Amino acid sequence: MTARFLQMIDLPEPGASMLAEAGHVTRADEVVGRDLAELTCSGDYDVVVCALDQRFDAELLAEAKLAGIANYAVGYNNIDIAAAERAGILVGNTPDVLTGATADIALLLILGVTRRAVEGEAMMREGRFTGWRSDLLVGKDVAGATLGLAGFGRIGRAVAERALAFGMEVIFAPRPPAHREVSDEELGALAGRVRQVRWEELVEHSDVLSLHVPLTDATHHLVDADVLARMKDDAVLINTARGPVVDESALVTALREGRLFGAGFDVYEHEPAMAPGLAELPNVMVLPHLGSATRDTRAAMAELTARNAIAMATGAPVPARVTA
Ligand code: DGY
Repeated sequence: MTARFLQMIDLPEPGASMLAEAGHVTRADEVVGRDLAELTCSGDYDVVVCALDQRFDAELLAEAKLAGIANYAVGYNNIDIAAAERAGILVGNTPDVLTGATADIALLLILGVTRRAVEGEAMMREGRFTGWRSDLLVGKDVAGATLGLAGFGRIGRAVAERALAFGMEVIFAPRPPAHREVSDEELGALAGRVRQVRWEELVEHSDVLSLHVPLTDATHHLVDADVLARMKDDAVLINTARGPVVDESALVTALREGRLFGAGFDVYEHEPAMAPGLAELPNVMVLPHLGSATRDTRAAMAELTARNAIAMATGAPVPARVTA
């Protein structure tokens, strides 16, 4: 039987051609006006190819008639994985292929905030640069600064490697707010070069606190007003993970009160909106969720998404399967 794909996103090549060769593809523009619940319950599709803004909650999944959901992202907080499993629906994501690109964006934000690149850019574009001055936009050194990584999965580790090359001291809390010991064996090439601490210590000792945790009930508002109050006065907060990991309005308050050096964000609590006031703060660098946005990375994500979708539709082993 021909595999039937419901492609809710603009899937880059080679993913789009792979799906078209493997079966019949219905694109989002052919089903305008029909909601996801109606489409997935229709029994007309085997696999939905989607991204973060398509939400599959328990209610929808209980009714859905699908073999699988191929998420064009490594994060899968848009899908209730336990409910998908109960409904016998496979879920796939795109790990590994976007690790380097996302880690690069974290470094871009770390350097951009500590070296006050946004203020400098604005000054140039607005014609306010009147010549070199010894006190012009003086920032913070990253060499010798302590980078605290909240979460130590693939992306956290790739950020650690890059930060070490910049001379940063790297500490990490593997699964905050809970504690888990990571063995030297698990650390591999990073053993002896990074130090494991508890979440509380990470918060209090980091000059730069960078978030690399999935969004779960345990990490929702992991960085709240209380955590912000415990961070160093001059610290920098970086979020390339998921917006709701930070209480964004508490962050705006902390920044307004001058309690942090600055913040760099690629993701937002109420994405695509930013918390009121965030964009007006000069010491904040904000990007529109660009973590995986390089040509090669997006092509690799599209290919893996298509391989996942085809495997789900044909009953083959799913290359990157998510389980509860
Ligand atoms: C992901 O993959 O989870 C990113 O947030 C989008 O590329």
